[in-house]
Amino acid sequence: MARWRRPPGAVRIPLVPVKLGSHRAAAESGPLALLRGCHARIRSFASLSVRLFAEEAAPLERAEAGRAVHRYFTVALPLHSDDEERSLAPLLQARIAATLERMTREHRELEALVATLSPAWLAAGGGGEGDRLRPLRDAERFAAAFEGHLGLEEAELFPAVEALGREPLDRVWLEMQLRRRPAEEAHIPVPPGPWQR
Ligand SMILES: [Fe+2]
Ligand SMILES: [Fe+2]
Repeated sequence: MARWRRPPGAVRIPLVPVKLGSHRAAAESGPLALLRGCHARIRSFASLSVRLFAEEAAPLERAEAGRAVHRYFTVALPLHSDDEERSLAPLLQARIAATLERMTREHRELEALVATLSPAWLAAGGGGEGDRLRPLRDAERFAAAFEGHLGLEEAELFPAVEALGREPLDRVWLEMQLRRRPAEEAHIPVPPGPWQR
């Protein structure tokens, strides 16, 4: 497969280096650290979702990466959305109602894109270059939509969380930890191969 070149005008996806296994370290330091850690992992997996369809890789590596991306966005992402919608939004409604409304609407839009991309992630190990063009466009749209969403939250939601008092933050933290306990969850590593760079 020829080396993929970004088409003119296409969205540039930042490759954010993520320290693998950082979830447990983040989990030790409270809600904001975990929120930020989740955003780093979302960026990393959204970027991997683009590279999966854009870069050269052996079929097995591509299949494994596709399954990891699918698993991240169907198992771990919903926990993060619940943190924001179920634990944080009720506490912040009076202060940033419009932001929360947009955030929740974007969560539904992003879920629809996850559903659109899921078959392509799961089938990433097969097919030829031509079969990857459409999922590549979808993956770029997905990563760009997420970048806008994460930027909104980091600019408006996170400062409001930071301003919460100790007692509500402790409650949020407990909810976040309980949410993750059953599935041992969101610690989904980027698989080995050309993706880890
Ligand atoms: Fe969100
Ligand atoms: Fe978020």
